[in-house]
Amino acid sequence: CGIVGILGKQPVASLLVDALKRLEYRGYDSAGVATLDAGQLVRCRAPGKLRNLQDKLERAPIAGLAGIGHTRWATHGAATEANAHPHSAPGVAVVHNGIIENYLELRGELQAGGAKLSSDTDTEVVAHMVSRELARGASPRDAVAVTLPRLKGAFALAFIFEGQEDLLIGARRGSPLAVGYGEGEMFLGSDAIALSPFTDRISYLEEGDWVVLTRNSCEIMDASNAPVERPVISSQAVSLTIDKGNYRHFMAKEIHEQPEVIGHTLSRYLDLSKMQTTFTNGTSIDFAPLDRLIISACGTAYYAGLVAKYWFERYARLPVDIDVASEFRYREMPIRKGDMALFISQSGETADTLAGLRYCKSQGIKVAAVVNVPESTIAREADLVFPTIAGREIGVASTKAFTCQLAVLASLAVHAGVQRGHVSADEAAALVRSLAEVPGTVNRALSLEAEVEALAQPLSRARDVLYLGRGTSFPLAMEGALKLKEISYIHAEGYPAGELKHGPIALIDEDVPVIVIAPFDQVFEKTVSNMEEVAARGGKVVLITDEKGAAACGAPTWRTVVVPDVPEFIAPIVFALPVQLLAYHTAVFMGTDVDQPRNLAKSVTVE
Ligand code: G6P
Repeated sequence: CGIVGILGKQPVASLLVDALKRLEYRGYDSAGVATLDAGQLVRCRAPGKLRNLQDKLERAPIAGLAGIGHTRWATHGAATEANAHPHSAPGVAVVHNGIIENYLELRGELQAGGAKLSSDTDTEVVAHMVSRELARGASPRDAVAVTLPRLKGAFALAFIFEGQEDLLIGARRGSPLAVGYGEGEMFLGSDAIALSPFTDRISYLEEGDWVVLTRNSCEIMDASNAPVERPVISSQAVSLTIDKGNYRHFMAKEIHEQPEVIGHTLSRYLDLSKMQTTFTNGTSIDFAPLDRLIISACGTAYYAGLVAKYWFERYARLPVDIDVASEFRYREMPIRKGDMALFISQSGETADTLAGLRYCKSQGIKVAAVVNVPESTIAREADLVFPTIAGREIGVASTKAFTCQLAVLASLAVHAGVQRGHVSADEAAALVRSLAEVPGTVNRALSLEAEVEALAQPLSRARDVLYLGRGTSFPLAMEGALKLKEISYIHAEGYPAGELKHGPIALIDEDVPVIVIAPFDQVFEKTVSNMEEVAARGGKVVLITDEKGAAACGAPTWRTVVVPDVPEFIAPIVFALPVQLLAYHTAVFMGTDVDQPRNLAKSVTVE
């Protein structure tokens, strides 16, 4: 999941571990480093957290001024030491992100040739393929050049070679990789954050590129092996301090940052002096002629897209088709001329989302993206980019990126409504005014924290939790359930409240808390009826509503959380807060690893 490579002036083992620590937020389950000690390849690897690797290195340090390091999120083979990266074969060590899809075929070929593989991973075959070329007399560079075209799949790789203390080779196909330029030092990293302690001068490799580094040179080749130049940019990651401030977890910090970052994001898309959206020509979609908007994303970003479907259809009368990207990419959806596609991604690197984007481009339509990382692949490949200005999100469970995505999508929906003639200037001004209220209202919603925290203990005893909502609260119910299961490991499902009677009602008894998200909107009464159905079966209802809803609700509830009254349009953004806080405090109460929950990764660059 994270790659680092260093050609340095000082021993690199501990520097590699420091850089990997900066990638910890991406989620991983084992880690390792390899260096060249007097020309010999030496490795140290450990399952579990980086602390284990660090302890091992303290007990048995490894020397060397050149090395590679890796944090692995298991795909092929369990999270054991034997499967941890770097992998090696005579003469070479490699670290790898992504998946080599034809590894079984390659493995068979290598074993037939007498190679002895010692792990279950797809990565090890790469080391052996390169090693085989070295044994045949190829130079390291030629050995990599011959091997790369044989690999199928999406990946990033970094290699070091026995006896070559001034050589680091990297390759990028599908997973990001950046070169960092130092003074007489060179670096490779899967993320600018990993390189930020060393340098702020970065080049991102393009799709298909590979790179040969020495301490004083950098040669980049494209997929056809032609030399290419890639711009050196000054990375903003350097100025990023990755610390939790006074918070116990990044997730808590990120939840509390929301009033500010939603404000930053909205200020980019709203002109409050005119009470209008501000999308200028060339930086916006022309919504007027569209027949359909296609939205695709994964995880939390998908739920933001689902909320947006309600907005675009209601305010702009624009039909929206939305699907999770892992389905969308293989569905071969017929694309027509009047379609436009919009992809939503915090990281901008999610493999399935990127594949969906490429599918739409190949069908000849324009694609737009709502992305939080401006240098990301999705941002670079989209025709139009609408940035969220959430700042770096470190907690694996997305919070501030979600509400910022909603802020951008809401602004776009108002803009589309005006362009398509379904929202008048006055109505637009009212919607913009309600959006302008969001940072303040979100801030007030944060004051519910103690009240929500009090629910954590009873919720922590549940085996299953149901979340219900209608309209835009339905995607929020799904997001609430996702948050809870991601970080507390309690099984949770989000359902449209009206669908309860068609199945999930069978689960209800006095042990199943049912979280009902119900702002006082046009479907409030309907949701209350569904609550009655739960209460009639002994279910414990936790109602999250606003002041008007609390006053109007006649149904019995077990607990009620009351957020400030808000216009219906912006309710999903404000109601996200109690939902996030509930998952957070339940997880804290249960003592789980909130920022890096088991089995999850922040940026999923594999299918
Ligand atoms: C992972 C993360 C989720 C995230 C999803 C999509 O599964 O754990 O929090 O919502 O990927 O990520 P993206 O970066 O595309 O928004």
